[in-house]
Amino acid sequence: MMNKKTLTYIAVILLGIVGIASFLDDINNNGTWYGANDYTHVIQTDSTVQKSIETACLDCHSNFTNAVWYDNLVPVSFLIKHHVEEGKHELNFSEFASYSLKKQKHKLHEIAEQLEEAEMPIKSYVLMHPTANLSTSQRQAIIDWSKNAIQQLEQKAAQKNQN
Ligand code: HEC
Repeated sequence: MMNKKTLTYIAVILLGIVGIASFLDDINNNGTWYGANDYTHVIQTDSTVQKSIETACLDCHSNFTNAVWYDNLVPVSFLIKHHVEEGKHELNFSEFASYSLKKQKHKLHEIAEQLEEAEMPIKSYVLMHPTANLSTSQRQAIIDWSKNAIQQLEQKAAQKNQN
């Protein structure tokens, strides 16, 4: 049997390893939520929807992940980092205005679909970040917003073609 002192040493060493690994595995950020190319430049967005997107989506779909301290701990950081990289690649609200019109419309369509099917925000993330849990009405507001945005973009394109 190991005595208490030995167990304490082992625990301290293990915590040290997790600490150092976590320090090395910090989530990288490469910008801010809002900038020259963020989605608000091309889509009219009221502050309620904007707030919902900020709390439920931008950690994985923007240039800035507002990580809470345990997000940077191994092994949570492995999971989050993977989600952030993949999520950003699929849809980046900070770069949305730089997408082609076709891509913008496609992504908006996907947003409505993901929310209608309750696929986003990812469930494991909501479990660890309860504030990201959207109510039914907040969810619906984003769905309405994205469908409305598709129309806005189509109207804008039609006007451009007339001139
Ligand atoms: C924990 C990270 C995370 C959060 C939070 C999150 N997403 Fe995602 N999202 C992902 C990942 C990873 C993918 C790609 C894999 C997949 O589709 O499951 C993705 C895919 C998507 C796609 C599909 C894009 C495409 O073209 O197929 C849309 C749309 C989307 N997310 C919208 C949202 C919205 C809207 C929110 C907020 C309500 C949100 N996501 C919150 C990680 C996240």
